[in-house]
Formats: sequence, C-alpha cells, structure tokens
Amino acid sequence: MQEGVFQGDACMLEQYAQADSIALSVWSPPYHVGKSYEKDQSFAEWKALLHRTLQSHGRVIRPGGFVAVNIADILCFPDPEMPRLMAENVSRRKRADITREQVLETMARHPDLNRRQIAALLGCSEQTVDRRLKGNNIRGGKYQTQTRVLLVGGLLERFAMEAGFYLYDRRVWVKDAAWENSRWHSMSYRAVDEFEYVYIFWKPGPTKIDRSRLSRDEWIEWGSRAVWRIPSVRANDDHEAKFPLELPRRLIQLLSDPGDWVMDPFVGSGTTAVAAVEMGRRFIGIDKEPRYARMAQEAWAAARRQLSLFSSPAATLRTSADELAPSRTDAGRTPAGK
Ligand SMILES: C[S@@+](CC[C@H](N)C(=O)[O-])C[C@H]1O[C@@H](n2cnc3c(N)ncnc32)[C@H](O)[C@@H]1O
Repeated sequence: MQEGVFQGDACMLEQYAQADSIALSVWSPPYHVGKSYEKDQSFAEWKALLHRTLQSHGRVIRPGGFVAVNIADILCFPDPEMPRLMAENVSRRKRADITREQVLETMARHPDLNRRQIAALLGCSEQTVDRRLKGNNIRGGKYQTQTRVLLVGGLLERFAMEAGFYLYDRRVWVKDAAWENSRWHSMSYRAVDEFEYVYIFWKPGPTKIDRSRLSRDEWIEWGSRAVWRIPSVRANDDHEAKFPLELPRRLIQLLSDPGDWVMDPFVGSGTTAVAAVEMGRRFIGIDKEPRYARMAQEAWAAARRQLSLFSSPAATLRTSADELAPSRTDAGRTPAGK
C-alpha cells in the first residue's frame, strides 16, 4: 500500500487501500450547495456518491476502525413540491442605509479589521456588511420555488449501516457565522448557518480505548465534549471549502494511534493530509479534481519535509513501502504531482 495523494474517485477506495487496513477515514464531502466541483450534480447523484463512498469504506476500514464525516444539513434545498410562500414581508425594520461604497471604503481604511469589527464601526450588522459586499438574495421571492432545510444525518446513518457501520458518536462543530450562505433568508425567520456536524461511524471489531492519547486538559476541553468551537478557515483562496486543521487533528488524535493508516477520500486542499503527517500517521488522500489532488499532494509532501527538519530520526515517519506488502491494485498508481 502506498502513501500519498491520488487523483481518483471516493467510490473506488479499494484501488488505493487494502481490505481492512485503514484505522480512520476523516472527510467532508460536497454538500450539494452548488460549489464548482459539484455544480452539475443532481440530488440523486449526490446521494449515490455518499452511498457508494460509504460502501467502499465498508471494505477498506479495519474492524474496530472509524469513519468521521464532517457535513452540514442542506440549508437551501430547492423544493418545487413545497407550497409557495404567499405572505407579504411586513417587517417594519428599516433597511440599513449603509452603501457598498461605504463598506469598501471602511475596509480599505482598516485592512486589519475583520467583518464583525467593520460592522461595529459602521453601526450595522455583520450580515449587512456581507450583503453589501456580495449582493442580495439568490433565491426566496414569495412566488419562487421554495427553499427548505434537508437533514442529512439520517441519510448518512442509513447508508453507513448498509455498509456495515454503526453510528458511534456525533459532535457539533460551531464555526464562524456564514452570512454569505444565508442570502436566501430575507423572506424567512431562519437562522444563519453557524454549525456543522461530525458523525463518527464504527466498524464492528476490537477497538482499543486509550484516553491517554489526549492530555488531561485536552480530554476536559474537547475530548469529552460534544460541542467544538473552532474558527472557520478565513481565506478559502486556493480551495472553496476547506475545514480548519484543528478539526481533523482532533479526530486523528482521538481515534487513531501513531503509525496507523488515515485516509481522506475528499482531500481537497490537503488539510487532513497535513494533520495526519503532524501526528505521525500514514496517509492516503484522494480527490477527483486533478488540481486539488496536486495541491493536497504538495501540502502532504511539504508537511513531511517540515516534520523531518524538526524531528529526530527515530520519530520520523516510516515509509509504507518498506513495511506493507503491495496491494493487488497498486500497479501503475503514482501519487498526484509525481
Ligand atoms: C468539501 S471539499 C473538501 C475540502 C477539504 N476537507 C479541505 O480541507 O480542503 C470536497 C472535495 O471533494 C472533491 N470531490 C468531489 N467529488 C468527488 C469524488 N467523487 N471523489 C473524490 N473527490 C471528490 C472535490 O473536488 C472537493 O475538493
């Protein structure tokens, strides 16, 4: 089995990992919200992607191992069947009379301030700042197709159980309020999007419980806690949907040991790859987009170089090739960017 990042499909994990070999898979799939890497995908295709990815995990996760999925409910699910909203918007609250130009000018004068501080300076809400920057409603007129909230956890649990897993735990990740995702809110009473889930599925088998993987303080602060407050990645400049490094780092520390195989089949910019290297785990990453597979491969390789600079020879990573028999499917596969 070979470490590294590969350009490929999350539904075909057997091509990259041996049966029953992976201790932990940490991932965040497309959310069916129209990002560039999913724009032509129907809802049925999206569900099939999750289903097949979990089926594939059923074969490569080792007995007693885990799959940790970070995902949000779908908050703007267009549903032509849903009755149209016919009431008027009768709110009396005056629209903030802040203009886009004022926001831009304030940002230029105070480049170090974040959106919340800019809003405080202008005396308006953070949502107003965001709307002035990004334009108003994308959906939500009273005669338009309605948007509804679609709970995703039940779908995932069903697919995971069909693949041989049981829901073991779930955590809530409280992130920064994503005002840009709530442009459709002006004609509703809905709240802004500011949390996601991590669902942890378990494959039946022997599982070592070792709380000393965390220090006492870590166990108190987050290991034993269901709600994790971790700031979002502020600069999604090279990838549209990165999760913060702290998220895979915690999952890897809690649910695997040094030397274990960790996987991310939707590796994107390579956040999980970097966390895995930092924690001395062997890693396989996959992304269907060649540019992201290359980006993650570079992030993984850079993290390994960094690690070898700062660690003693005894602590450096072992290479998989020396230790594991090649898998049946290794032939002809080279990591992205090599
Ligand atoms: C939400 S992003 C993951 C971001 C990643 N966690 C990070 O921090 O950079 C989802 C990724 O899945 C990839 N993807 C979409 N469909 C895929 C498929 N069928 N197989 C593998 N990767 C896929 C996309 O290209 C995208 O990079």
